[in-house]
Amino acid sequence: MSRTFAQRLLRWFDQHGRKHLPWQNPITPYRVWVSEIMLQQTQVDTVIPYFERFMQSFPSVKHLAAAPIDEVLHHWTGLGYYARARNLHRCAQMIVDEYAGEFPQDVNILAELPGIGRSTAAAIASIAFEQPTAILDGNVKRVLARHSAIAGWPAQPKVAEQLWRIAESHMPKKRCRDYTQAIMDLGATVCTRARPKCALCPVAEDCIALAEDNTTAYPGKKPAKDKPVKRAYFLLLQAPNGDILLERRPPQGIWGGLWCLPELPVEQPLETHLAGYGELKGTERWEGWRHTFSHYHLDIQPVLVKLAKRPVGIMEEGRHLWYNLRQPAAVGLAAPVKTLLQKLSKPRQVNLL
Ligand code: ADE
Repeated sequence: MSRTFAQRLLRWFDQHGRKHLPWQNPITPYRVWVSEIMLQQTQVDTVIPYFERFMQSFPSVKHLAAAPIDEVLHHWTGLGYYARARNLHRCAQMIVDEYAGEFPQDVNILAELPGIGRSTAAAIASIAFEQPTAILDGNVKRVLARHSAIAGWPAQPKVAEQLWRIAESHMPKKRCRDYTQAIMDLGATVCTRARPKCALCPVAEDCIALAEDNTTAYPGKKPAKDKPVKRAYFLLLQAPNGDILLERRPPQGIWGGLWCLPELPVEQPLETHLAGYGELKGTERWEGWRHTFSHYHLDIQPVLVKLAKRPVGIMEEGRHLWYNLRQPAAVGLAAPVKTLLQKLSKPRQVNLL
């Protein structure tokens, strides 16, 4: 390998990089700063018209600092993440008041200004001031995580540290502006999240993820959160003729509008609750299982409760029905309820505990 990562990327940039974005013509610290803030959470195509209107109305940092915040917010309408606009306005005032209207060139000072983090500060310093400061935005994280096969979620400090170290190791001393633009463009157009175009990539030759044929494994995903576990008794309340009591769920929430069994959180005393149904002929605890929703696990503990008499006074408001297992009503049932009713209608195959 004769050429460095940066040399190969810059040669690619000369042919394929984006050089006609509005904030590139002309390049000034003010225009670079505004564009980088707009581009923090928003795609280039969306930003372009906002950027142009913004520059028409606020042609310099002094104009921006002097404008009422409402006018700045008005120009931001539709871009989202409005804290960006408030920080931009505050930052403009600080630059006018504390830095005589001139942007500081020191990346560490830039990084302390409102709305400018480490990566945005490095983008401004390299693009506006040709300083060798490495950026690490979402696109660059993906490029570097793949090229060096850095596993793990980049928001984890250990992973971020490795990526910053690699970003800095590739940063050239010359053509800093072009290099920063090049690595962003590579991430946006070639090293895309899905189906990267590795055949067109200038650094494919030593890309470890590509050699592993595993590009889409990088960067690692946010680890799934452990879901909370709820545990509930599902009561199969059986009338003497075999019918089972069903309850309709409220329209909102899980199983909205479907018919379910009466539930009781396992933290509540079962015996006391069952006493409310009058005399019992017997109870059977069936084997339970875990039903998983997007936000939690539900551990279902079914209990068959054979009632001596059909209770009166629980059939209020059309929210209840007695379900005849031999002539089932055509109603919507929650999946675990359907499973339990099917078990019950099969003669004695249930697993008694
Ligand atoms: N995303 C963030 N900064 C950018 C820039 N200067 N050009 C294109 N996309 C970007």
